[in-house]
Amino acid sequence: MIQVHLSQSKKVTTKSSTLVLFVQEKNKKFNVMGASRELAGFVSNLEADGVQFADLKKGLLFRNNTASEFKNILVVGRGPEKDKETFRRLAATIYQSLKTNKLFESAIHIEGLGASGKTAGDVVEALTEGLLLTAYEFKDYKTKPKDDKATPKKEDTFNIHLLVDGSLNSAQVKKGFETGETLAETVNFVRRLGDQPGNMMTPEVLADETAKAAKGSGLKVTIWNKEKIKKERMGGLYGVSLGSDVDPRFIIMEYNGAAKSKAPVVFVGKGLTFDSGGISIKPSGGMEEMIYDMCGGANVIGTLLAIARLKLKVNAIGLVPSTENMPGPLANKPGDILTARNGKTVEVYNTDAEGRLILMDALSYASELKPAAIFDAATLTGAMVVALGNSYTGFFTRNQKLVKTIQTAADAAGEWVWPMPINDHHLEDMKGLHADLCNISSSKGAGSSTAAAFLEQFVEKDIPWAHFDIAGTAWHVGNRVPYCPRKGASGVMVRTFVELAKNYA
Ligand code: BES
Ligand code: MG
Ligand code: ZN
Repeated sequence: MIQVHLSQSKKVTTKSSTLVLFVQEKNKKFNVMGASRELAGFVSNLEADGVQFADLKKGLLFRNNTASEFKNILVVGRGPEKDKETFRRLAATIYQSLKTNKLFESAIHIEGLGASGKTAGDVVEALTEGLLLTAYEFKDYKTKPKDDKATPKKEDTFNIHLLVDGSLNSAQVKKGFETGETLAETVNFVRRLGDQPGNMMTPEVLADETAKAAKGSGLKVTIWNKEKIKKERMGGLYGVSLGSDVDPRFIIMEYNGAAKSKAPVVFVGKGLTFDSGGISIKPSGGMEEMIYDMCGGANVIGTLLAIARLKLKVNAIGLVPSTENMPGPLANKPGDILTARNGKTVEVYNTDAEGRLILMDALSYASELKPAAIFDAATLTGAMVVALGNSYTGFFTRNQKLVKTIQTAADAAGEWVWPMPINDHHLEDMKGLHADLCNISSSKGAGSSTAAAFLEQFVEKDIPWAHFDIAGTAWHVGNRVPYCPRKGASGVMVRTFVELAKNYA
């Protein structure tokens, strides 16, 4: 458990026993800005004692000090950078140190950011976000030790106070704090959805959790069941769901933060709650990873929740087609033909290429909404992992202006994206024999691009659209991102999508 608090005064108003102090190295000298004379003296003593700056970068804890009212001082070395990503990463260093040393009450001294509240607001936002993201845990199914009560003990909570000079622009600092908190909380919420196993996270549960989380946020949630999905001619989503005993859902989230006349930005996410491959069944090794096949959907849910809670002045819509992909008696068979909502027909040569089948209906529906832009996120292809591995999300669009917009948004959010090719050759490979399209490519290679070209067939011409293949980034395989140190769902693209949405205000 963690709680981050904002304290806008020079004076420490907490009973915190630990102070976190940022130290910079300037002209080979340690430098701490805005601290009291005693603390400045404490830091120059470190230098005299031969402490190396490299050690401070990992965070160095000094216990039982007399230099200030704080018993413990955690010294963290930082460079001159003031960008958000730097502070998200510093937050990870701080949290890990506090946790290792079981320092439950602490205060972070935020210093030397100039008179502008903008920088301080950004730093507070990034620290808050970084701390909360680092602290995320998923322990729902670990049995507690016998003596452990259901409620966490008070001392198990890390209370971290951000101490900001009260003379700085307080509105910007407060906004930064709230933004960081909202983003991290929604990302952690969808990580929790992603980490749930397939037996717990069915389409019905995903839809119910969305409706529950949306309460009071200003989001309108509409949920379609199996009959409605069929009636609405979503032949792909309906077809894929036939192999499973659990019912599919189509989740619609609407947020109105701008004038009614303003075209909405639409986010679409693949909500495949477990992908066995269906009749074209997957090999058993690693199949458990397919609990994460709903992360595109979960992350779109998070995006809409964040947009609503941040009260962005945009109109935004989130669409999540959700089903299992199972080899039940009524399952799609190779060669079956399905009809999408926009009337296009598709031959299913491989039932494991199901993501595009459920997305085709959602993208057709999105196109009907006359949107300003459509962005989709999906754990769509294993080929994406081969191409870019686990750190970059590949994105596909033919709209060059959008490429720049996306890269700028991802930079601001601290997420890594990379543009991937999509052209008419890729589409050529997706033509069907007896139907308009086939769900797998007729030639080898570029599997992520051919999948993207398939999806493009369901986006009305002239609507700016980009597809994000998060197959390699939807869950963490290790500690690639310092502030997401655990294995498990990452919530990737929530923060980028929220940044993107700001372009449609
Ligand atoms: N959900 C998978 C893609 C995937 C694979 C995501 C590995 C994350 C890690 C998707 O439904 C799938 O099975 N795609 C097939 C498509 C193929 C049959 C054309 C794939 O990539 O193998
Ligand atoms: Mg599949
Ligand atoms: Zn899948």
